[in-house]
Order: sequence, then C-alpha cells, then structure tokens
Amino acid sequence: MQEIKNTISENFGGPASKLGSHQFKLDDCPDLSGKVAVITGGSEGIGFGVAYTLLKHNIAKLYILSVSKEVVEGAKDAVAKELGQDKADRTVWMQCDLSDWPRVKQVAEAIKHDTDRLDILVNNAARGIMTAELTSYGVDRHIAVNHMGHVILTSYLLPLMKETAKQGNVVRISNQASNMHTKVPSNTKFASLDEINKDLGPNEQYGRSKLAAILYARYFDRKVTRNGHPNVLMNATHPGFVSSKQSRTDIFEAFPLGGWAMSHGLEPFKKDQFEGAVPTVFAVTMADKSGQYICAPAIPEAGSELSQSEELADALMELTRNVVRDKMRSEPAGKGSPLDDFVLH
Ligand SMILES: NC(=O)c1ccc[n+]([C@@H]2O[C@H](COP(=O)([O-])OP(=O)(O)OC[C@H]3O[C@@H](n4cnc5c(N)ncnc54)[C@H](OP(=O)(O)O)[C@@H]3O)[C@@H](O)[C@H]2O)c1
Repeated sequence: MQEIKNTISENFGGPASKLGSHQFKLDDCPDLSGKVAVITGGSEGIGFGVAYTLLKHNIAKLYILSVSKEVVEGAKDAVAKELGQDKADRTVWMQCDLSDWPRVKQVAEAIKHDTDRLDILVNNAARGIMTAELTSYGVDRHIAVNHMGHVILTSYLLPLMKETAKQGNVVRISNQASNMHTKVPSNTKFASLDEINKDLGPNEQYGRSKLAAILYARYFDRKVTRNGHPNVLMNATHPGFVSSKQSRTDIFEAFPLGGWAMSHGLEPFKKDQFEGAVPTVFAVTMADKSGQYICAPAIPEAGSELSQSEELADALMELTRNVVRDKMRSEPAGKGSPLDDFVLH
C-alpha cells in the first residue's frame, strides 16, 4: 500500500505529494550562508525553483548556466522583486549551451578562477521529450546535452569540489533524472556511438539520457565517494510530473497532436516548479549518501534493473570518455578549447 502512495506522491502535485513515506519541504532547507553553488538550467522551470530556494536560504553565490539571456533576466527580476536585490546580485549568469563542450570547459575554468569553494552542483538542464537530432559534431543531442555536457562540467569542477570537501565541508551534486529512465530498450548496452545515435523515438531518446543520469551517480559513488572522497556525494533525482516549458510547450515538437494530453489534459495533476524542486533541494543540502535515485519528495528508490547495473554504468562512462575525446580532437583548430585534458574520475 505504501508503495502505491509513494508512486502517487512522487509524481503528482497538491495533497497527493503528502502521501510519501519520506517527507521533505523546501522550508526544511538548512541555512546556506557562505556556500557557493552552480546550477544548469536555473533560469526557469524546476531549475528556477531550486535556484530561488537556495537564494532564499542565503546561498552566498549562485552561478546559473543556461542559454537564453531573456529568460535569465526575467528570473533575476523575479528574485529581486520577491527576495530583494541583494539576493538577485548573488547570481552570476554564464551563457552555456551544454552541447557546446569546449564552452562547457571554458565556463568551468572561469568558475574555478572566480571562486575558491564549490559546495553544490545541480546538473539540471535538459533537452526534453523531443525528436532525435544530432549535434554538428555527430552525437545524439539528448545524450550530448543531458549527460555528456554535465559529465564534462562536473569533471572540470571536481578538483575544486574535492578541495572544498577537504576543508571540512560536505559537497553535494545532483543529476536531474526521471522515471522516464525506464523507457529504454532492455538491450541497451552503451556499447558504441552508433548505438547512442540510433533514433529510438522521443520518449526513449529522452529516457536513455535519464538512465545515464542515474548510472552516472552510481558510477561516481564507486569511483569518487567510496574511493577516497567520502564527503563528495552525487545523487540522481526524479522531480515528478511538473508543469514547465518542457511539459507544456516542448512536448508539441515531438507530438504535434498527442501532446495536448500532457500539455493541457494533465495540467491540474502536475506539480508546480517549487514542488518539482523538492528532491533536488534535498539532494544538494541534506543527503548523506551517494549514488542514490531520490524521488519526490525525498524517497530513495531502486530504479530500473538497468539503472542498477555496474557493468552498464562502466560501459556508459567508458563510451562518454571516448566520445568526448574523439569528437573534440577532430574539432578544427581555433574552434573552441580542445578537451585533451579531460579526465574522467
Ligand atoms: N517537467 C517534468 O515533468 C520533468 C519530469 C522529470 C524530469 N524533468 C527534468 O527536470 C529538468 C528541468 O526541466 P523543466 O521541466 O524545468 O524544463 P524547462 O522549464 O524547459 O527548463 C529547462 C532549463 O534547461 C535549460 N536548457 C535547456 N537546454 C539547454 C542546453 N542545451 N544548455 C544549457 N541549458 C539548457 C533552459 O535554459 P534556457 O531557458 O536558457 O533555454 C532552462 O533553464 C530537466 O532535466 C528535465 O528533463 C522534468
């Protein structure tokens, strides 16, 4: 019975969200004075809910990485209006398309240059349920943005996060996953670029990148947390079914007719962006374990069988290392910084 209640609580908004076995509210977020955070996609949707909450709870500095200047300016205005100009001034926006990997490295280096600590990294931005597309350098855009861009960002920021942990702090990273991680073929192997470039359809394409978000957290737990860095934690999260640009607008790109049900029909049952922020805020301020899949509000779940496979996680990360190195090596000289020094933990 509690299992059913948890499923309802994990996915739907309003009173339904109170049925879960593990409760956490945004008001339970501890004081974050003195801490520094980075969030991708913090300008709207769930990411804005997270950014707003971190600022409300006094984070000293918040780097927001996203694409649209207009959207982030709107976000900053909303923060200034509701939390005051001082809180808005604690944000630093860095334009960064996560599919532009040399730019991701550049932004990570600039952050390391600008701050001497990093307590929180929220890997949240994503290409939603949309049609398959290849980047200009020939990698499936869902994996390139949602997984590989975040691995590059995390890898270049990791030395600073390890240093912050060494100073006696707990450093927390979250990857925004989804219950859609179950929507992948059972023969998923992450064995080759051809495999990840194969068009599986919008749901599967998105779901595969979300499976990668969980596998990455479990891989990180083995390779970093339990390998000498007990105070650097990474967890994956599922926010539930949330009203956002992805679920209201982007869905029509993949399903011009069928998108109506998700966009409008289910709108009354969706969580709002603040309810959707709850598991991420828990993961980056309270979690004391690494490698978990945390569903809203703060329920650790096993996830699919594939998401628990060490072998699959190793294959995914080996493929990530090879694709990043190979694709960036073939970039013409002068077009962005090469990633020859990319080190995968
Ligand atoms: N909504 C749901 O029901 C749901 C359910 C499960 C999981 N999720 C996950 O939750 C996360 C947030 O989604 P959301 O629903 O809040 O979506 P959203 O409102 O569309 O927000 C997406 C954010 O990601 C940024 N972004 C998109 N593509 C990017 C790129 N290539 N490089 C850098 N930033 C990029 C956007 O920045 P710009 O505005 O500048 O483009 C925006 O800030 C995603 O990982 C999503 O997959 C959502």
